[in-house]
Amino acid sequence: MDSPGPRAAPDRAADAFRAQCGGEPALLVRAPGRVNLIGEHTDYNEGFVLPMAIDRAAWIALRPRVERRVTVHAADFGGTLDFAIPTIEKGGPAWGEYVKGVAWSLIEAGHTLAGWEGAVAGDVPIGAGLSSSAALEVAVARGFAAVAGLAWEPLAMARIAQRAENDWVGVPCGIMDQLVSIGGVAGQALLIDCRTLEISPVPLPAGVAVVVLDTGTRRGVAASAYQERREQCQQAARFLGAASLRDVTLRDLARASTALSETTLRRARHVVAENERARLAAEALRRGDAIEAGLLMNASHASLKEDFEVSSPELDAIVAASRSRPDCLGARLTGAGFGGCAVALVREGDLEGFATGVREGYRSMTGREARIYVCAAAAGAELVPV
Ligand code: GLA
Repeated sequence: MDSPGPRAAPDRAADAFRAQCGGEPALLVRAPGRVNLIGEHTDYNEGFVLPMAIDRAAWIALRPRVERRVTVHAADFGGTLDFAIPTIEKGGPAWGEYVKGVAWSLIEAGHTLAGWEGAVAGDVPIGAGLSSSAALEVAVARGFAAVAGLAWEPLAMARIAQRAENDWVGVPCGIMDQLVSIGGVAGQALLIDCRTLEISPVPLPAGVAVVVLDTGTRRGVAASAYQERREQCQQAARFLGAASLRDVTLRDLARASTALSETTLRRARHVVAENERARLAAEALRRGDAIEAGLLMNASHASLKEDFEVSSPELDAIVAASRSRPDCLGARLTGAGFGGCAVALVREGDLEGFATGVREGYRSMTGREARIYVCAAAAGAELVPV
């Protein structure tokens, strides 16, 4: 199985802190990435998602300071971000916009911030659809909350982190990633109703592993295509007189089928059916029926490929390579799509054999190397003893 590297991320963050700031960090913050099992492109339609926080995270080693300045060193790619609060400006390293965006968003929400210095490291693959950016945002929010003594209100903090990404970084993401990075529960996936933000933990059945399959591709078109999909979904809802596609049924769509454009109809059909699949998958996992959950994941991939059109040849190839293995119960692309990762539900027993088979199959179909991670469901963001 592919491992994060020679030194674990918390050690890299703490070592970089000692090297760059001198002395010992006072706090260590962990905020996990996530993998979404099912319920894709539903969060911004007020629908259902079923993600889990993973055992890969952004880590920050930090120490409060009297001065109202924030200085952050990036242990993994080098570079330093330095800014004064409360007047925050754009500019500096690209990763720094996530840090400043969270500071800005916390201030916008009425919080008074305090200064700190720290170092960040992580082992969430970047740009792979595993929410490395949400992990960083949530880690920064957790750090600010600790340093300034702010109450750690999960829903409010998830919205603040999402706003940083929407309005400071300029990525129109939904609430799923930040919410699961904060609300993750060890050993459980989370069924999230993205309208009410009600979160229900869903235990993962024994004997089944969640395996992330990284195609190694990263697609630049994702941001504009994501925005386009959001608009198409809104158009469909508006046309049907609904507040969002959450309130639309397949029957409503059938009735409107000749009036909607063929593309809009397919986009809406994906979202409406995916909401139902996410709920059914949560029920299936609750009763220990991983076979049914796997079938729903397969159907989700088909819908994302045909109706929502967010797959890619590499994602299709890695999903096919995974499904050709006898231990695979289901596989689908995860996250926004266009590149990045797929997720598979796999019977435990010979996970190494599964990984080898997927690597070989994917290589023969694409000439590319896959990275494969077995992921445990992790707890959400927390302060960890140094
Ligand atoms: C990205 C966004 C999420 C969600 C997914 C698609 O990961 O950040 O909010 O919309 O795409 O399900």
